[in-house]
Amino acid sequence: MKRSTFNLPLTTLTHLSAWLPLAIGLWDLWQGNLGPDPIREATLRTGKSALILLLLSLACTPVNFIFKYRSVLKLRRPLGLYSFMYASIHFAIFIGVDYFFDFGLIQDALLEKRFAIVGLSTGIILLFLAITSTKGWQRRLKKNWKQLHRLVYAAGILAVTHYIWLVKQGVSQPWVFAGILVLLLSMRVKPIKNWAASLFRQLSSQRA
Ligand code: HEM
Repeated sequence: MKRSTFNLPLTTLTHLSAWLPLAIGLWDLWQGNLGPDPIREATLRTGKSALILLLLSLACTPVNFIFKYRSVLKLRRPLGLYSFMYASIHFAIFIGVDYFFDFGLIQDALLEKRFAIVGLSTGIILLFLAITSTKGWQRRLKKNWKQLHRLVYAAGILAVTHYIWLVKQGVSQPWVFAGILVLLLSMRVKPIKNWAASLFRQLSSQRA
């Protein structure tokens, strides 16, 4: 019989944590605590949440491989969908609040700023992945589903590029995210992931 990998405390914690940035953001908006430029602050917060949730979704497979913690695999989809949710709010603030649905101006902004083109490409990939993340699409696309969902790596790379390109030179935080992404992607390379898993086994047997 297949053992259930559903972990109620972990799943509950994941869902609560994923809603937290939105709840805090709405509270701060209500209280007028979004600083002197609330639109920019809301854009930055939702963008950061989308990126963090995307990286967490990318972290699930390596965490399972190295630590043999299967329960995290069930979190890949919700984390990806939450990332898409924050990216959608981020984009909605950009077009609706920042540019007031002036599609001429939005088109100029998107074409002028390379960081915006890359952000939009990330958003489109996340949209595709969100739509096709259901069991129905999994059945319909069969083997191709896995191939399609490898686009999540491209989304990670584009999201970090978006962040690197939009900040001023000398700001180091995007590079921290880039480092985390490189680490997560390198854990997909067989020799590296096998090495990390055996290192963890050695360390835990020493401790036992
Ligand atoms: C859909 C198209 C997108 C557009 C037009 C867009 C636009 C923007 C804009 C205007 C900013 C603020 C720049 C500033 O004032 O300094 C920003 C910041 C940011 N965006 Fe996006 N974005 C998009 C998609 C995304 C996506 C999909 C992600 C992540 C998955 C993302 C992650 C970020 C991050 C991490 C920041 C910086 C946050 C910070 O500095 O704290 N964006 N974006």
